[in-house]
Amino acid sequence: MTEDKGYAFVESTKYPNISEADQAQGLPQPPYEIPLEEGKPLVNLPMPGKIDLGKFDLRQAIEQRISHRRYSGDPLSQEELSYLLWLTQGVKSINEKRGVPLRTVPSAGCRHPFETYLSVNRVKGLEPGLYRFVASTHQLVALHMDAAFNDRLTEVCLGQRQVATSAVTFIWAAVPYRTAWRYSERSYRYLYLDAGHVCQNLHLAAESINCGVCAIGAYDDDGADALLGFTPPEMFVIYMASLGKKA
Ligand SMILES: Cc1cc2nc3c(=O)[nH]c(=O)nc-3n(C[C@H](O)[C@H](O)[C@H](O)COP(=O)(O)O)c2cc1C
Repeated sequence: MTEDKGYAFVESTKYPNISEADQAQGLPQPPYEIPLEEGKPLVNLPMPGKIDLGKFDLRQAIEQRISHRRYSGDPLSQEELSYLLWLTQGVKSINEKRGVPLRTVPSAGCRHPFETYLSVNRVKGLEPGLYRFVASTHQLVALHMDAAFNDRLTEVCLGQRQVATSAVTFIWAAVPYRTAWRYSERSYRYLYLDAGHVCQNLHLAAESINCGVCAIGAYDDDGADALLGFTPPEMFVIYMASLGKKA
């Protein structure tokens, strides 16, 4: 391993080494969400204000959290899925003046560079397949209804069984220009920092409803992007997490 190769990223993203950002040059900011996929059905999720899954002590959630790679065969309810999406990428409000969403997680410069995709296996009332979370309206878009989608996802996750057996696997895609518009090359540091906050919220939210999570950083990048239909560098898979009811 060459330390230099990894540190080259840090070096090249230090302030003296980055380009002037597009924002500083007066270019308009990009949209905070990708457009709706044409002709794909929308699914209304239970709205966050109506969800009542009880209370859970935060300290207990943090202290008892571990990675879970085995799940029970029980399905998630749509209320539980909605709760997890809300606590990981939910839009609390839109700051109209700045044209940015305020979400349940922090993000460098409030740029919020992620889209959330779900490989659904066992969620009551949802056909297995690939969905995208439309955070601004708290809906899902049903993209690709195919029970075998998750097998292909497992393959690109290097055969990790916890993906194959998950009730749902979260796939976070980065849209780097949302952050790069303000921070140019330095934004690539923030993408990875932002992603950590999202997955930690998933861990803790899952703990509070008796679900287990395993973060997934080991995957074939090109294979994952091809499976999702992304064309990097505009958009790419940055992080994933398998989830299910605790075994
Ligand atoms: C960035 C990141 C990537 C990870 N990727 C994987 C993975 O691909 N497969 C896996 O089984 N666990 C993965 N994990 C889980 C770690 O192995 C786990 O957090 C670690 O062993 C500590 O155990 P604990 O989470 O139970 O405390 C990842 C965790 C993080 C934070």
